Amino acid sequence: MKNSRFTVTPLAGAIGAEIGGVDLSRDTDDAAIAELRAALLTHGVIFLRDQELTPASQMEFARKFGTPAIYPFVQGLEDFPEITPIIKQEDETVNFGGLWHTDTAYLERPPLGTILYALEVPAAGGDTEWASLYAAYDALSDGMKQMLEPLRAVNRSEKGRVAQTRASAIASSPTDLSNTELVAEHPVVRTHPETGRKALYVNLAHTSHFVGMTEAESKPILDYLFELEIRPEFTCRFHWRSGSIAIWDNRCTLHNPINDYQGSKRVMHRVTLEGDVPA
Ligand code: SIN
Repeated sequence: MKNSRFTVTPLAGAIGAEIGGVDLSRDTDDAAIAELRAALLTHGVIFLRDQELTPASQMEFARKFGTPAIYPFVQGLEDFPEITPIIKQEDETVNFGGLWHTDTAYLERPPLGTILYALEVPAAGGDTEWASLYAAYDALSDGMKQMLEPLRAVNRSEKGRVAQTRASAIASSPTDLSNTELVAEHPVVRTHPETGRKALYVNLAHTSHFVGMTEAESKPILDYLFELEIRPEFTCRFHWRSGSIAIWDNRCTLHNPINDYQGSKRVMHRVTLEGDVPA
């Protein structure tokens, strides 16, 4: 990038880049934010290391990126309700959001993106994977693209085992909506409002069936798409250290926090940013 202040090092072929030379206690001017946004649009998820953020400074940074949203099912921090603590204690065996998903696809307006900050991480394990939904769409045959193009799909907050992955967080900090199922219909092929690229917008955790078809009829095609989306060449994997930040574009990526650190604690602070109606 011209006049680039930061280094951008891709992490894998299809998705993910580590941004070097950023210090968020200093680099929050408009030019720095524009550079980070450009890297996000190009790489789908970007990673920053060694940042020291308080809840107040995470919120300040998030506000430069967009409008922080409230997560419907778990209460945020007392003074910062848009920050959802994502905590797995030593004695817990299930991790929050522990399967491939896009964040809150069951909302009419799913988030534009998410900013996840690591406070405490296990000595080994607890990595997160991301997958490019552009790459998945591009890999479809012309025939499949034509078939999927007019379809819409139903996304549910209680599909399969996803509800179980938030049970512990809800038990400690419920909201009025914690026991309500949220459901939204979205196009199966989504056009990214900023890049104009097409992305395959279905995900294992939330997408239950195509509108106008039964779950049984939809299942073979959805299963095929869920598998395609996470082909290793469409993914990247990030190893967290305390002070790491991931910022992902929730309109064109999936992610999957790996649950391989039983007996250790992991603490993250998550802020999602308000998004648009997928089209
Ligand atoms: C999430 O799905 O938002 C959490 C991701 C993670 O804990 O790595």
